[in-house]
Amino acid sequence: MSKILVATEKPFAKAAVDAIRKVIEDAGFQLVLLEKYTDNNDLLKAVADVDALIVRSDKATKEVIEAGKNLKIVVRAGAGYDNVDLAAATAKGVVVMNTPGQNSNAVAELAVGMMVFMARGNYKGISGTELKGKNIGIHAYGYVGKGVATIAKGFGMNVFAFDPFVTKEQIEKDGVKVVGSVEELYSTCHYISLHIPANDKTKNSINFDLLSKMPKGGTLVNTARKEVVCEDSLKRIFTAREDFKYISDIAPACHADLLAFEHRYYSTPKKQGAETSEANINAGIAAAKQIVGYLKDGDKTFQVNK
Ligand code: 3PG
Repeated sequence: MSKILVATEKPFAKAAVDAIRKVIEDAGFQLVLLEKYTDNNDLLKAVADVDALIVRSDKATKEVIEAGKNLKIVVRAGAGYDNVDLAAATAKGVVVMNTPGQNSNAVAELAVGMMVFMARGNYKGISGTELKGKNIGIHAYGYVGKGVATIAKGFGMNVFAFDPFVTKEQIEKDGVKVVGSVEELYSTCHYISLHIPANDKTKNSINFDLLSKMPKGGTLVNTARKEVVCEDSLKRIFTAREDFKYISDIAPACHADLLAFEHRYYSTPKKQGAETSEANINAGIAAAKQIVGYLKDGDKTFQVNK
């Protein structure tokens, strides 16, 4: 009987685990659960005899993939797969997939929620500002970016986007204005919502030059990955511009340096963009179904290591 390991340092909601179990057991497979582990050795032991692995932001390193003697597929239940060593998986013939769009609404809601929180002075009773009438730039127009655009329009914001991988027509049909360059996006928008993946090209790409182009009151919203923002630039811009704000779903390494800038800096204590029951259920079920589809029928839809 094939064994499917769900290894989540940050566990799914119980309802999601129950739903994943049902998909796996209905297919005649066995669920193995490793939650809240703090020692990587526990993951190495658990993966040793399973056929498939479901993770969230858990690190599926070369060591983990090689420890999975029977491992055939790893599914990242979520969007970003920078936590999976694709080269190691490919070398071992292991298929890697993500579950695009399944948790995107939760992340989009958090992005806008954090914008309101910051615009209202962290709900500390001081006079704030409104989102209505402000320009927001969606930096990468994937599922989350599109979700933020939809919510922002509801707030009466002017929505702009830049994404070289999505056609102008696809973006414009959502009532979003397309700009010609990333520089134009930053110089046009009071708010920038980041939705780029973390890879060799994007890491540290949000730098001082780009941030300094933002208009007065410029606010960077990061529900993507902390690594895409250059932290030296972040510290520099906070000192150079008294109006600049940064909101992040997960603290940057320079968190302690930014704490002095109350009302201009906020980070969630633990990454929680996708921490909703709905997102857990959607992404968890999708991951389980994709594994069943691959193990039973060889369905490779959503494979990312081609
Ligand atoms: C994603 O890439 O899907 C999000 O960042 C959510 O990550 P998480 O599952 O670790 O919360």
